[in-house]
Parts: sequence; C-alpha cells; structure tokens
Amino acid sequence: MNHLVAPSILAADFANLQRDIEMINKSSGDWIHVDIMDGMFVPNISFGLPVVKAVKRHAQKPLDVHLMIVDPDRYLQDFKNAGADGITVHYEVCDNLHRTVQYIKELGCRAGVALNPHTPVALLGDIIADLDMVLIMSVNPGFGGQKFIEHSYKKLREVKALSDKLKPGLLIEVDGGVDESNAAKLVGAGGNVLVAGNSVFSAADPLAAIAYLKKPSA
Ligand code: DX5
Ligand code: ZN
Repeated sequence: MNHLVAPSILAADFANLQRDIEMINKSSGDWIHVDIMDGMFVPNISFGLPVVKAVKRHAQKPLDVHLMIVDPDRYLQDFKNAGADGITVHYEVCDNLHRTVQYIKELGCRAGVALNPHTPVALLGDIIADLDMVLIMSVNPGFGGQKFIEHSYKKLREVKALSDKLKPGLLIEVDGGVDESNAAKLVGAGGNVLVAGNSVFSAADPLAAIAYLKKPSA
C-alpha cells in the first residue's frame, strides 16, 4: 500500500487552529493526528475533549487520536463522541489490553496500540491479529520536536515481520522526530503511516512539507 501521512496538530498554532486544520484539509495528508496528554502517563498536558470536538467541526480528514493517558477505557466513548475515527492506546497503561481493543472496535473506531521506545515489539504477539494499527514511538511520548531514536527502525522491521505472519495489511505508524531526512528509510523499514508535527508546522511551506513526506520515494 502507499503510505499515509498524518500531520500532528500538537505542533499547530492553537490560536489559529481552524486555519491550520484547513491547511491540512487542502494538503495531501491523509489523517489528522491528535495527541492527548494527561500529565500522568506523560509529563505534559496537551488538550482535551472540547478541543477535539472543535477540530472535528472543521476537519475533512479522519481524526487519528493518540491517547497518552492512564486508564484510557474511562474516556473511549467520549473520544468517539468527540469525533475520533481511530483511537490508539498505550500498551504500558492497559492491564486488560484485549478488552480495551475490543471496546474501541465496538465503538466503530480503528484500534491501535502504541509502544514506548523501551517496550519490546515481541509483547504484541498475542494481540497483533486483533489490531488495526501498531504505533511505534520514535521519541519518548510527551513532547513534540524531539530527536528521532534510531533504534526505531529495528522495531518497525520487527512489527512488519509480525504483521506479515499474523496480520497482513496492518497499519504501522511511526510517531516522533519524523522529517524529510528519515521518511524514506522509515517506509523502507515497514512504516506505512508517518506522523509529523514540527517538520510540518515549522516548515516555511507546510503544504510542501506534507507533499514531500507523501512522495512515493519517501
Ligand atoms: C509525542 C507525540 C507526537 C508529536 C510528534 O509525544 O505523540 O505525535 O506530536 O511531534 P514531532 O513530529 O514534532 O516529533
Ligand atoms: Zn502522537
């Protein structure tokens, strides 16, 4: 499949959110990546449900909601109601991950599981067949604009191998420090959804930055 690009609005100008959403609408990007941080699982707070609802009112592309929160089950229905099309939870905070994944699917959302840089891919062996997407964190979650962790290529190759064996067609998302310098290599390693925050919104021409990340050679 051709890979997807999901600009992350964590790096948008929150005082001009409608303008930045409309930029993504016009772009060749595929999804809008929405980072929810609770100040508990990660040492930062981003924004919550009212903002997601406001984004949804202007978005013409699916909302890819990445929950960096403890006990995500409590809020799954709320994020669905706010407009989430896909919901990704972190492996590290789900004691009953299989149940959580089924719940996300019952809500009619695409179900994703994210792994922090220290969490081994092998832990997904007994759940991967139930997933729509795996998200490999290529920075420690909590902040945009961090340096890409090189070890992530190996993890992407491991997810791709598991997917080939147990779940063909799995979406494999990579999130953190993605830019023009590593996009092609990430796709080569098996990534098929590229999240990009700062490399899009700090670019002089964000539309061109998204188009570059979408190029088949990327
Ligand atoms: C980090 C978030 C990312 C973030 C990526 O915790 O999950 O989605 O927005 O930002 P960049 O692309 O700037 O690393
Ligand atoms: Zn994210």
